[in-house]
Amino acid sequence: MDVLSALSARRLVPVVVLDDAAYADQLAGALVEGGLPVAEVTFRTSAAEEAIRAMADRGDMLIGAGTVLTPEQVDKAVAAGASYVVSPGLSRAVVERCHEHGVLALPGAVTATEIQAALELGITTVKFFPAGTSGGAAAVKALAAPFGDVQFVPTGGVNAKNLAEYLAIPAVAAVGGSWMVPRDRIKDGDFGAIAELTADAVALATTPSP
Ligand code: 3PG
Repeated sequence: MDVLSALSARRLVPVVVLDDAAYADQLAGALVEGGLPVAEVTFRTSAAEEAIRAMADRGDMLIGAGTVLTPEQVDKAVAAGASYVVSPGLSRAVVERCHEHGVLALPGAVTATEIQAALELGITTVKFFPAGTSGGAAAVKALAAPFGDVQFVPTGGVNAKNLAEYLAIPAVAAVGGSWMVPRDRIKDGDFGAIAELTADAVALATTPSP
């Protein structure tokens, strides 16, 4: 299965901010226990590269790199074992470096102009970020109309309450979010809570919409 199909099958992408790579393995264990062997590990902290390596080395998870802003970070992410690369916005340099490495690039795009620019770079799946403040599910639906071949991964302000609204849209491949991996829970080492939050999120994502 390719990476996009695997993400679409899971429907949920936990967006992880790790302050210390020492927690990476336990966090990965909690996600697996919760039924979601996927993580987008963000380059918002200096622990990202080591954390990606630790999680990817387990061999039981699909690991992406998030908040990737430069081609150099693409190199680091791929060398550490990331299978896909997510950016908050659209950068030609980042997308091209991903293509050189043969990894999926998932850049951010929230306007028709940004989506057209992504299409010109060969991208057909975009991160719709920040989803909540960019018009939410209504905006995704409106953009899906003219861009019939584009898939969206809404992220930013997605939570247990509004998840179903996004997942009900056929053009939505998956949603991303940090609500099941709160940074303070990771810092406190409360991996039992993370496994529970994850299991709850998985249950919601797999409940058929009414
Ligand atoms: C991201 O980097 O994708 C977002 O910060 C995740 O957004 P959230 O914290 O609102 O879920």
